[in-house]
Amino acid sequence: MTGRLQGKAAIITGGGSGIGRACAIRFAAEGASVCVADLSLEGAAQTVHTIEANGGEAFALAVDTTHEAGNEAMVARCVAAYGGVDILVAAAGIGSGRPPSDTPLEPVTTLTMPMEHFRKIIDVNLYGVLFSDRAVAGWMVANRRAGSIINLASVAAKVPLPGAAYSVSKAGVWMLTKVLALELATTGIRVNAIGPGLVETPMTEALRSDEGRAQRALSMTPTGRFGQPEEIASTALFLASDESSYFTGEILHPAGGIFTG
Ligand SMILES: NC(=O)c1ccc[n+]([C@@H]2O[C@H](COP(=O)([O-])OP(=O)(O)OC[C@H]3O[C@@H](n4cnc5c(N)ncnc54)[C@H](O)[C@@H]3O)[C@@H](O)[C@H]2O)c1
Repeated sequence: MTGRLQGKAAIITGGGSGIGRACAIRFAAEGASVCVADLSLEGAAQTVHTIEANGGEAFALAVDTTHEAGNEAMVARCVAAYGGVDILVAAAGIGSGRPPSDTPLEPVTTLTMPMEHFRKIIDVNLYGVLFSDRAVAGWMVANRRAGSIINLASVAAKVPLPGAAYSVSKAGVWMLTKVLALELATTGIRVNAIGPGLVETPMTEALRSDEGRAQRALSMTPTGRFGQPEEIASTALFLASDESSYFTGEILHPAGGIFTG
């Protein structure tokens, strides 16, 4: 099916790679005009190139989502280009990373992680999403526009994964999603989250290329495989479209059955 987002303007942060890129490409194929925003302008431009090659409409924008003013400018650019904003996918994020000395017996923990590293993860994964949400929802409220906001959380919002700050940041995104959904419930602005399991993107490349870590990670996943970014984009499309009109404050888990237990 195509055209499910016809006439809609979407901002995708983290649109220069992985899940954000897959969302941008899918949304454009469904008729949306897409602002592809990323710290990496080069990555965003590559996404736009693919969208345009498929006949879609998009532009690339450099943004650091941890700067509140940058998020406001991002919304202003989208409004100038497309007359408004109907959809946000807040997919900009970073993983915990692991120091080279890290071994399965010595995972990075809350006690060993340098605090500036912990703070950086909270800054990008939680404050970045908060600032993007505030900028987009603020514009929607001021302009009495309904819309759909989709935050990228993780299964780590509910399960403590090694990596200390990552799970903390994602639990924050999940609660932020619920609080915003409640506050905006009567405005026509829906706010939902996606909590993927392990997805094949650059973020998980180091983990996937380490056989031991990859096997341990997959042992949590009953389907026994990593997800594809396009499978997360399908979930985002559902939440962005009117098909999910009675959903708000929810988290959906495209996660290969991680929560069957
Ligand atoms: N890949 C997975 O297995 C997985 C699982 C669960 C949740 N997630 C979440 O999904 C989201 C996307 O992850 P991904 O796997 O596509 O990662 P990715 O590394 O492929 O893409 C992340 C993008 O975010 C951008 N980015 C980082 N910091 C930024 C900032 N301050 N401002 C703007 N852009 C910034 C990067 O440049 C990159 O293009 C993240 O929030 C991640 O935590 C990923």
